[in-house]
Amino acid sequence: MNPMPMSAAELGIDFQLFRTVCAFASGKGGVGKTTLTGNSAVKTAAQGVPTLGIDINGQGNLRRELGYDIGDQGAGFLDSMKNGTPLVPIKNVRPNLDVVVGGPKTRELSQLFMVLAQEQGPYAAFLRLAQCLQPLLKDYRVTFIDAPPENPNLLMMCLCAARWLIAPVKCDVCSLEDALTDIANAFKAARQVNPLLELLGVVHFGSPNGATGIHDEVVEETRKHLGAHAHVFDSAIHLSVKTAKRCRERGLSARELADAKLPNDRDLGAASLALAEAHDKLTVEIMRRMKMRLEQAA
Ligand SMILES: Nc1ncnc2c1ncn2[C@@H]1O[C@H](COP(=O)(O)OP(=O)(O)O)[C@@H](O)[C@H]1O
Ligand SMILES: [Mg+2]
Repeated sequence: MNPMPMSAAELGIDFQLFRTVCAFASGKGGVGKTTLTGNSAVKTAAQGVPTLGIDINGQGNLRRELGYDIGDQGAGFLDSMKNGTPLVPIKNVRPNLDVVVGGPKTRELSQLFMVLAQEQGPYAAFLRLAQCLQPLLKDYRVTFIDAPPENPNLLMMCLCAARWLIAPVKCDVCSLEDALTDIANAFKAARQVNPLLELLGVVHFGSPNGATGIHDEVVEETRKHLGAHAHVFDSAIHLSVKTAKRCRERGLSARELADAKLPNDRDLGAASLALAEAHDKLTVEIMRRMKMRLEQAA
């Protein structure tokens, strides 16, 4: 291989193979990326779709969403990325769901990125995750990446290993514009390397249930910053603090929590059911839209 590859092809990367890889990504933390990764992955797996989750976060929070053990804290992930070898997921976090585990060790990825960029050039650095993920893709029908907010280079790596960007936004006063501008910039930068990357849609996360006025604002702002055809998913994930807290404490998706009807959670009743329904609807919408866009692109 050329020591300074100047294209994805020189690295053996075929972006067509990434046709069902979704990155939940945003320049901001606390907007629901990990929550959406966990809930979507559990839902597709429960529907019988072989699903891969990837946690590339130093906090390794996906583990809390899905309730698996801390494992190697991302050491295996880091090793694969150092060596350019296939990622090694832990198997059967749920039937049909495997996960590449993140954690503190993945914090070293930002340094690895710099070394790769210096020694092998920007393509090798931006495409390292794609290179390590590509050999696994034949085993899964959908992949969800929980992208890290804290480091723009790692965000780029995620967007260069995905076909679809799904961008959650939270509608706090004044952060929406910033968040959408960051997303637009990251998207444009990643498209220079990964020309098949598309914005699948924006997810409106964390407003009160039934806040249609705010939802309309999200749609309007999204179109302003991401283009007139930018899509906002109809299914928003509404604010439901206690239910979300219980999900993380128990390592269950919203649907699993609602279905489990655990003795101490009975008081959540309608709230947990409403959140489960919102997540289910969103995942169905994501999968449908991905299928539709792929058919249009064919
Ligand atoms: N529907 C919800 N309502 C309120 N809080 C939520 C909801 N869903 C998730 N949360 C909580 O919001 C916080 C941020 O979500 P998270 O998915 O970790 O965001 P990110 O991955 O973007 O940093 C977490 O503490 C999570 O448990
Ligand atoms: Mg997170």
